[in-house]
Amino acid sequence: MNFFIDTANLDQIKEAQDLGILDGVTTNPSLMAKEGIKGAKNITQHYVDICNIVDGDVSAEVIATDYEGMISEGEELAALHPQIVVKVPCTKNGIKAVKYLSTKGIRTNCTLIFSVGQALLAAKAGATYVSPFVGRLDDICTDGIVLIRQIADMFNYYAFDTQVLAASVRHTMHIIQCVEAGAHVATCPLSAIVGLLNHPLTDKGLEQFLADYNKLNG
Ligand code: E4P
Repeated sequence: MNFFIDTANLDQIKEAQDLGILDGVTTNPSLMAKEGIKGAKNITQHYVDICNIVDGDVSAEVIATDYEGMISEGEELAALHPQIVVKVPCTKNGIKAVKYLSTKGIRTNCTLIFSVGQALLAAKAGATYVSPFVGRLDDICTDGIVLIRQIADMFNYYAFDTQVLAASVRHTMHIIQCVEAGAHVATCPLSAIVGLLNHPLTDKGLEQFLADYNKLNG
């Protein structure tokens, strides 16, 4: 199970990298906007800055929605840094763009996936990752984890190389559920990753160990 952090915030990316468990980063235009990153030059520089912090894959999303625009933007993004994975929405043009980019050896993350059928098309087009959005399905009273399991089972059954990148992970329990459902990667907020550490018996046990040590060693 790989961990990506789902943010464009450099401090949070550094903190996750320093933990020693980070495998990559996902961004999207909303996350870039949240950090106030605007203008093509600043956006591309921000992607490079992220790549220089982490060792793994960094998803950078195309803004174009037409096929020609998606592939030229995708090629530009991929040329920025070897760690860049081009994030393409799961539309008709997006699937064509994933096919083109994967044929050119450019890695892709097909995003905004909400059904097994969308994941199937993305995998057939050669996507490196598909990103089903767990939290946004939960938001509309549909179990997002069920979709992760269905896609993981389908990829295993047909031996697709495409990885299930569980996205829109909102909290720590989602991460555990993604593990159980067979996701290859979960992209999460830093708080959800750090939340995995919390256990009252760990805190209590450590307190007792230190108290016993201090009794003898003062
Ligand atoms: C990541 O690839 C997605 O863009 C992100 O996880 C969406 O998360 P949200 O539904 O919390 O905005």
